[in-house]
Amino acid sequence: MPESARVSNEDWLVRADRFDDETIDLLYADPPFNTGKSQVAASGSYQDAWPSTDAWVDWLRERLEVTIPKLKPTGSMLIHVDWRTSHRVRVLLDELLGEDRFVNHLIWRYGLGGSSPRRFARKHDDILFYSIDPDRYYFEPPMVPATSNRMKGQMKKATDVLDVPTLNNMADERVGYPTQKPLALLELLVGACCPAGGVVFDPCCGSGTTLVAAQRLNRTPIGCDLNPEAVAIARARLQG
Ligand SMILES: C[S@@+](CC[C@H](N)C(=O)[O-])C[C@H]1O[C@@H](n2cnc3c(N)ncnc32)[C@H](O)[C@@H]1O
Repeated sequence: MPESARVSNEDWLVRADRFDDETIDLLYADPPFNTGKSQVAASGSYQDAWPSTDAWVDWLRERLEVTIPKLKPTGSMLIHVDWRTSHRVRVLLDELLGEDRFVNHLIWRYGLGGSSPRRFARKHDDILFYSIDPDRYYFEPPMVPATSNRMKGQMKKATDVLDVPTLNNMADERVGYPTQKPLALLELLVGACCPAGGVVFDPCCGSGTTLVAAQRLNRTPIGCDLNPEAVAIARARLQG
């Protein structure tokens, strides 16, 4: 692991407080979604239940209030949530940063999972992208394969709907941590939203997917997680 890459067993609040002001280029947070149950997989588990949505929003607010001053004026944040809270997080970020700092409501569209006879199948997560300064934030549009017949075989700039397959049970990169995100998604986001050499902070790093993506793209990964199982996995992935 390079000297600068760090992953620790700390609460987001405690870890964020230890940064100097204006030192983070990109905050990517994939917090528990408040599903109301424990998330369990072969190599780890974590609690994902708050007494109410309001309590979850208060938890997030407290952590964002400490983290926002640590972002550089050219920095930005990506908050990865789903249908349960995306509407509340949008309002919270409008309040904490200002509506004019909103950049994108990204949809991560995936295929796997069940369906319901009572509603349209829920097949996407929401990633809210906000900047600190709308005139100065870093962005390098990611290129993805074009799908139209006219542009067949060419690349085009990604839209706000990101088609990245979720990890299936046989995927080589699967490490057995619950709700592990695909490296391809994090490489796309980190490459687009953090300049080369910049600092990426993931305060709920889980298995360390963001940290691995940052390391592979020559950004400096800093992460923490309350769960020692997560930290051990993330550390091993960074060293590997
Ligand atoms: C959705 S998972 C992250 C998954 C990760 N993106 C990955 O690809 O493996 C959320 C993580 O937040 C952690 N967590 C929950 N509360 C936390 C807190 N207060 N501070 C830091 N981490 C926390 C959980 O232990 C869990 O690992």
